[in-house]
Amino acid sequence: MSDEKRAMERRTFLCVVGAAGAAAAMTPGCGDQASTAPFSAGNVSDHPVGVWKMYGAQAVIVGRDANGFFAYSATCTHEANTIEFRTPTACTAPTGCTSISTTGLTRCPVHFSTFDSNGVVITGPASATLPHYQVTVAAGAITVSPATTVAASVRTMG
Ligand code: FES
Repeated sequence: MSDEKRAMERRTFLCVVGAAGAAAAMTPGCGDQASTAPFSAGNVSDHPVGVWKMYGAQAVIVGRDANGFFAYSATCTHEANTIEFRTPTACTAPTGCTSISTTGLTRCPVHFSTFDSNGVVITGPASATLPHYQVTVAAGAITVSPATTVAASVRTMG
């Protein structure tokens, strides 16, 4: 079983348990599980080097560094709540982008785990790196495939 499937099953379990205790409605990330279907993250020109963009509906962060594009989960590896940028600004493009960061630093609003700009845990209680996803670029168009996990070191050139 892939890491992503384990994470999805864990998230489902935690939300169901939370719902039984009437706590799910107060738990970010429950009831709005992200799809693992491939999705468009716009074009290469939408993603400057040194900028991270959150795709809220998919709970995925797309970044670009000097080596290329990468994408990783915005679902906390502790108890599957949705993480957020520590210093976000509004995002208006491309379609689906909900916030921007120029540091890539994130935190979980529930138990306050923090993650670096590549999804590696800085402070717990989370202990696992956020899973990275396959990114493909064709004719300048970026597609992220959350069903396919890759190593955190993988980059895709545009
Ligand atoms: S769910 Fe994120 S730190 Fe607990």
